[in-house]
Amino acid sequence: MKKYLITGCAGFIGSNFVYYMLRRHQDILMVNLDKLTYAGNLENLKDAEGDPRHTFVQGDICDRPLVEKLFSQYDFDYVINFAAESHVDRSISNPGLFVQTNVQGTVNLLQCAKEAWLRDGVWAEEKKFVQVSTDEVYGSLGDEGYFTETTPLCPHSPYSASKASADLFVMAFHDTYGMPVNITRCSNNYGPYQFPEKLIPLMINNVKHHKPLPVYGDGMNVRDWLYVEDHCKAIDLVAQGGRPGQVYNVGGHNERPNIFIVKTIIAQLHDRLQDDAINETLIHYVADRLGHDRRYGIDPAKIRQELGWYPETPFEQGIVKTIDWYLCHETWMDHVTSGDYQKYYEAMYKNR
Ligand code: NAD
Ligand code: TYD
Repeated sequence: MKKYLITGCAGFIGSNFVYYMLRRHQDILMVNLDKLTYAGNLENLKDAEGDPRHTFVQGDICDRPLVEKLFSQYDFDYVINFAAESHVDRSISNPGLFVQTNVQGTVNLLQCAKEAWLRDGVWAEEKKFVQVSTDEVYGSLGDEGYFTETTPLCPHSPYSASKASADLFVMAFHDTYGMPVNITRCSNNYGPYQFPEKLIPLMINNVKHHKPLPVYGDGMNVRDWLYVEDHCKAIDLVAQGGRPGQVYNVGGHNERPNIFIVKTIIAQLHDRLQDDAINETLIHYVADRLGHDRRYGIDPAKIRQELGWYPETPFEQGIVKTIDWYLCHETWMDHVTSGDYQKYYEAMYKNR
């Protein structure tokens, strides 16, 4: 039986990954470690409750004694590190927290994995540390071209700088000690359980409540959207078959300007809810994000050629599934937007 330490499992992609693995693999054990920050929510794992193949531990990836204890208790074969502070806007207000979790937390996990897996100068067999990273580490593209695995790192936001730093530490553990690692760098994800600070769930929630839709700048920044399950499939393939020491870019050639996404959500919800108050007058162009990257676009040739990965959900299907999910999970949205979320929203959007 393969044993996994999965960090950040109560967040958006982590929880989708837990469900993906439970559907795909019978003979596994997943220990799910999450601090339960504002972005982590045990409701996200509710449908896995009672399944003996996973167990939840509340804790911080920076907590060395805790992570060491988990390694000695479970003798993990894989670490999949999703845990992070993940929102660019928050990183602009509080970069220090991003260094702590994304850089120091990752280094702590690497040290604990090395301690457990490297004995008398020999690495235990069939171990793997997978760092879930982002295309944002490559910086911003112009109108042409794509990020490949050899594109130089050029992060602009405190978020992407912290993720790039973590990536460098992961590679340093491979190059210095020979640790079996992979890094995945994926484009923007969308789907169920995404916290409504991110573009798609924020817009769905605001449209539903007839609230203004804050579009940054001219709305023409481009993101390369991937349905979250396709990202989960890529991480599973990389964990099983990725060559040690390699980076794999993940993206589905689904580039859309932000304003296209916002108008799609308006049109879908207008039709679904038969509500004429849902229309494009809700769009409000607001002050741009500082250092706003213009365009991201992934070249996924390497993961396709080496591991046979391809995206299964076209954007037109994925966005309908996603809107359906949020419409069917109003209680979830009510819970995550109560309390602190209102304060966050006020502070982030009031003076734009
Ligand atoms: P998220 O913010 O939804 O979830 C992050 C999770 O990490 C939360 O459950 C939170 O409680 C947990 N966490 C935060 N600090 C922690 C700590 N110190 N110890 C333990 N747990 C902690 O993020 P997400 O969107 O699910 O992203 C997951 C990973 O994927 C991140 O590493 C992110 O950089 C990367 N990524 C995200 C995207 C995207 O579009 N969302 C794209 C590419 C890569
Ligand atoms: P986001 O979901 O925060 O992801 P990232 O910054 O990691 O790409 O933002 C996606 C795009 O949407 C980005 O170009 C910023 C833009 N955006 C808005 O225009 N308005 C918003 O309220 C938010 C949250 C994002």
